[in-house]
Amino acid sequence: MVANRLPVDPHVDAHGSIDWQRAPGGLVTALESVMRNVDGAWVGWSGAPDLDVPPFEVDNMWLVPVALSAAEVEAHYEGFSNATLWPLYHDVIARPEYHRPWWDAYRRVNLRFAEAAAEQAAPGATVWVHDYQLQLVPAMLRELRPDVRIGFFNHIPFPSLEIFSQLPWRRQVIQGLLGADLIGFQRAGDASNFVRAVRRLLGATTRGSIITLTNGHGRVSRHVRAAAFPISIDSASFDALARTPAVQLRAREIRQELGDPEVVLLGVDRLDYTKGIRHRLKAYGELLAEGRLTVPECTLVQVASPSRENVGTYQTLREDVETTVGRINGEFGALGQTAIHYMHHNYPQDEMAALYLAADVMLVTALRDGMNLVAKEYIAARSDERGALVLSEFTGAADELAGAFLVNPHDIDGMKDAFMQAATLDRREARRRMKKLRRRVLDNDVAKWAKTFLAVLSASPTRTEHP
Ligand code: F6P
Repeated sequence: MVANRLPVDPHVDAHGSIDWQRAPGGLVTALESVMRNVDGAWVGWSGAPDLDVPPFEVDNMWLVPVALSAAEVEAHYEGFSNATLWPLYHDVIARPEYHRPWWDAYRRVNLRFAEAAAEQAAPGATVWVHDYQLQLVPAMLRELRPDVRIGFFNHIPFPSLEIFSQLPWRRQVIQGLLGADLIGFQRAGDASNFVRAVRRLLGATTRGSIITLTNGHGRVSRHVRAAAFPISIDSASFDALARTPAVQLRAREIRQELGDPEVVLLGVDRLDYTKGIRHRLKAYGELLAEGRLTVPECTLVQVASPSRENVGTYQTLREDVETTVGRINGEFGALGQTAIHYMHHNYPQDEMAALYLAADVMLVTALRDGMNLVAKEYIAARSDERGALVLSEFTGAADELAGAFLVNPHDIDGMKDAFMQAATLDRREARRRMKKLRRRVLDNDVAKWAKTFLAVLSASPTRTEHP
């Protein structure tokens, strides 16, 4: 496994000793449960600038940290990954920045990951590379180790050709990805955007999901498949966690702590401009202003976990969100009666499960999101078949989750109506919808996702037909 992050983060104490703690985040949660059951290595950034530590074992996983200097973290992670690719791949919601030194760092760091993977992989091994931070690794690894089978999974959207074409290094990125035998995407639309980019930018022949590559003499050298594999969560574990008496008790406590409102709305996001938090707050604020919702009968709990805090667009977003929360609370709250309970923290999984159980309506209003695993966690937690999900149609999850109230987050009036419908849903209709949602999430978990991806990967031809 090769991913930008390891499943643990380093916490260095005053004496310089490191305590490795479970890392938050969608990708890590998804892959951790897969890796525990196989005999493999996980190559990832050590998690702090200039931290160079040897490989070590955690929970049956062999972890191989890749050291990055502070300058590399700035240019590769904060720069090219999160200020160039992230906004570009999320439909330019924020303006992508193109800087040549960032691209140089991206290449250098990708090579370091490829070298670490090449060193760890046994002869003929399968290597699975993840996400937009490492798109050059497949081709670099193939160069170093032509014997290994390479899969790549893109956890975020892949944009349309018209948007992708802005990238000054668009051909290099596509060539990097084509080093893989199988390239997985969240939605069918992402896969077809990629195939179209390959055809138009490289002139390669494509047929459905198959891309045919030729060598210098125009003879077929390899085939690459690009297809959709929608990711999921460890649904059974989440379901079981939410059924424990401790979590159930905590959910009741949370409602009491909130002052026993009739309706609890919940938002859970990384504090990221793709998540549509500003749009959600606008809709909620208007509903309060119009008196369609009132405090203390209704309250919104918004968990916004800290993310990418050195990147300018994230700093601006935090200021905007916190100003808006303050304004809405100032206008509609009173002593002991809060319109929005805003938390800028990470919470452990059991607290999250209790929050999901305590919420009548879950609000997922992303402007663009590869999948959105929070929506799936909410559903997995609701074995009581209560609660309702408002879900943006611009998430990967929207392709799968019929039973949710689908919304266009740019349409504030439409979103307000959906909030109201979900908040006033009768018990029978809520149960009917939640049953359907749960069937989907429980039947399609992360283990099945990984198994399907790896089965397709192992069936793909690796040999060169005409060397
Ligand atoms: O969804 C893409 C992703 O990079 C995930 O892999 C990760 O869990 C999340 O965004 C948070 O990103 P970061 O690693 O930058 O904190």
